[in-house]
Amino acid sequence: MSDNKVVLNYDGKSFEYPIIDSTIGDRGIDISKLRDQTGLITLDLGYKNTGATLSDITYLDGDNGELYYRGYPIEQIAEKSNFTEVMYLLLHGELPTSDQFQSFQKGINKYNFVADEMKKILDVFPRSAHPMGVLSSLTSALTAFNPRAVDVNSKEDLDHAAEMMIAKFSHLCAWTYRKKLGLPINHGDNSLNYVENFYKMCFRRPNEEFHLDPIVVGALDKLLILHADHEQNCSTSTVRMVGSAHTGLFASVSAGISALWGPLHGGANQAVIEMLELIEQDGGDVAKYVEKAKNKDDNFRLMGFGHRVYKNFDPRATIIKKAADDILNALGIEDKALDIAMQLERVALEDEYFVSRKLYPNVDFYSGIIYRALGIPTEMFTVMFALGRLPGWISQWKEMRLHNDPIGRPRQVYQGAQKRDYVDFSAR
Ligand code: ACO
Repeated sequence: MSDNKVVLNYDGKSFEYPIIDSTIGDRGIDISKLRDQTGLITLDLGYKNTGATLSDITYLDGDNGELYYRGYPIEQIAEKSNFTEVMYLLLHGELPTSDQFQSFQKGINKYNFVADEMKKILDVFPRSAHPMGVLSSLTSALTAFNPRAVDVNSKEDLDHAAEMMIAKFSHLCAWTYRKKLGLPINHGDNSLNYVENFYKMCFRRPNEEFHLDPIVVGALDKLLILHADHEQNCSTSTVRMVGSAHTGLFASVSAGISALWGPLHGGANQAVIEMLELIEQDGGDVAKYVEKAKNKDDNFRLMGFGHRVYKNFDPRATIIKKAADDILNALGIEDKALDIAMQLERVALEDEYFVSRKLYPNVDFYSGIIYRALGIPTEMFTVMFALGRLPGWISQWKEMRLHNDPIGRPRQVYQGAQKRDYVDFSAR
């Protein structure tokens, strides 16, 4: 191997593959000619070593626990920015000037309603339906009300599509919440900012005057910022993969919502609270559940622990843990689940099994505690994650289309039956 290429010796021949440079972090071996030259393909289950794209949106350093949006460290963004600004930054690559910010907000406000017929679709879901299933279906249904395909060669069209998606998606998230609770649904209020507007659409009671609680709005804003993008994770890769077939934005995002729903991905925030409740109901014996998680004959895993990329700590978890403490204090809430979470964290972080495998609490370990303190039903937690992740999905979809990435189509190493002749039914 030299600095800028890798040499592969195979079948008595030598092949060279160039190394693609990065600004920071992993460099990649360009193996696009590998199969043509050698007849071999690579096999990398779960894509643990495979770069699927070139990207300039988000960078994370899993060994050192660092996360950057467009080069800005997440700690600075979480402290100083707000979710609307972060959406702009992810979508456009730079922090907005005051004029750009106003115009972005105006663009979102233009679409701050959802066609009334969509309510009929919402109505037919039973209240018992999981909000993520409802959200994914409603997002897909938006296509029917906005049938025109985005012209990716027009910056104006791309901007409008992003602003429309951002505006309407907050309604769909709020509507799934209202549906779950059996409350009448609302449209947006353009006098409020994005997070306030979402908060009002969710929490306004039909029989009371509405007040914005700045503590809750601030907490929501921070949570949404922390979830806004995370490079090529499962749901984002899904959005890019579906979009690579030139499928529209709404349908691609709808697929991303389904991917996010899984308990190994965004669904972990719901699973964490369910696990903490289970431990509490079972007498609060934290050590017993740590042992279960270590037992290879037991399917139980400590939800909210471990991450494919972070092998040190999840920087978002550090910020959220502090936010959870602040919010519970500010709202005067004592939560037994938080006590159990703290014990679990202590025991696991000292245990050889977790230490040697570099398993640390991830973002979902604490986010559920905040959502619970805000009175959000457990099944809604992953919807909150989806609202946060939306700007990441749109930015990555847009990048994929602007780079003109080819359709995603992995290969396989086939290990099934050899070629054989069909056997008639009577002869089987
Ligand atoms: N509890 C117990 N053991 C675990 C856990 C866990 N939460 N996570 C990983 N391990 C163990 C595995 O059993 C494996 O052990 P082994 O080497 O003895 O076989 C080793 O740690 C490596 O685990 P993998 O599953 O190979 O790691 P991978 O990178 O594929 O998975 C994942 C990462 C899916 C996040 C995993 O850690 C997990 O299931 N965590 C719980 C679910 C969760 O919190 N998901 C949220 C992720 S963050 C997000 O999506 C926002």
